[in-house]
Amino acid sequence: MNPLLDVRDLVVRHGPRTTVDHISFDVAPGETLGLVGPSGCGKSSTAMAVLQLRRPAGGEVWFDGHELTSLNEKQLRPLRPAMQPVFQDPYGSLGPRHRIRDAIAEPLRVQGSWDRTTGPARVAELLEQVGLDLSLGDRRPHELSGGQCQRAGIARALACEPKLLVLDEPVSALDPSLRAGVLNLLAELQERLDLGYLFICHDLALVRHFCDRVAEMREGRIVRTTPAAPPSPPRSPAATPR
Ligand SMILES: Nc1ncnc2c1ncn2[C@@H]1O[C@H](COP(=O)(O)OP(=O)(O)OP(=O)(O)O)[C@@H](O)[C@H]1O
Ligand SMILES: [Mg+2]
Repeated sequence: MNPLLDVRDLVVRHGPRTTVDHISFDVAPGETLGLVGPSGCGKSSTAMAVLQLRRPAGGEVWFDGHELTSLNEKQLRPLRPAMQPVFQDPYGSLGPRHRIRDAIAEPLRVQGSWDRTTGPARVAELLEQVGLDLSLGDRRPHELSGGQCQRAGIARALACEPKLLVLDEPVSALDPSLRAGVLNLLAELQERLDLGYLFICHDLALVRHFCDRVAEMREGRIVRTTPAAPPSPPRSPAATPR
C-alpha cells in the first residue's frame, strides 16, 4: 500500500544548529509509527516540519500524494485539514476561554463547513466519538480533567476529517490513571477511521506497546526502525473517562 506520509531526508535547522538531520520514515493508512528518543533529540521539530508548521531546511514530505515542501501557504491550505496535530498540553490547544463545543466547532467554521442546522449535531457526534458526555460541551477547558480535555482536543482534530494525526506526547501530561483510556480511544478511532498516526513519545515501553513500528531517534537522526513488540494480550478495557 502507498504510504500516507512519506518523509525523505528531512532536515530541520534552528539557526545554525541542525536539529533534524536527514531522517526518512513513512506511515501507512491505519498504521502507527512511534517516534521515540530522549529530550531534545528532535521529535517535536520533526512533528512541526511534517505538519509544515515549521518549514524544513531540506528533504521532502509526501502526504497523500502531494509533496508539501514545494507548496506555498495558499497551496497547503486545502491539504492542512487532513493532517492534524494533537499536542501534549490539551488545555493550551483548546484555548482557555472557549467552551468545549465552540473549540470543536471552530475548525468547521474555519473550513467553511459549519452549518447552523447540522453543525451542532456534528459537534455532538464528535463529543460522543471521543467518549465525552454532551453536557461537557458547555464547559471551559479548566472545568475538565486532563483526560477529558485531551479527548476534546482529539474531537477538535477529528472535526477536520483528517487522514493523519501527529500526536506529540499526547498522554505525557496526563495522570497515569487516565492514560490507558486515551490510548484505547486513539486505538479505537484508528480502527474505525483508518487514521495514520505519527506517535511521539519518550517512553519506549509505551511506544512498543502502542505502535506498529518504532523509529528511535538520537541527536537528530533515526538510529533504527523496528517492528514493535510481538503481539501482546488484548488492550485492557477503556477506563471510564473522568
Ligand atoms: N524554537 C527553537 N529555537 C532554537 N532551538 C530549538 C527550538 N526548538 C527546538 N530547538 C532545539 O532543537 C533540538 C530539538 O528539540 P525538539 O523540541 O525537537 O526535541 P524533542 O525531542 O521534542 O524534546 P522533548 O522530548 O523534550 O520534547 C533541541 O536541542 C532544542 O533545544
Ligand atoms: Mg518535544
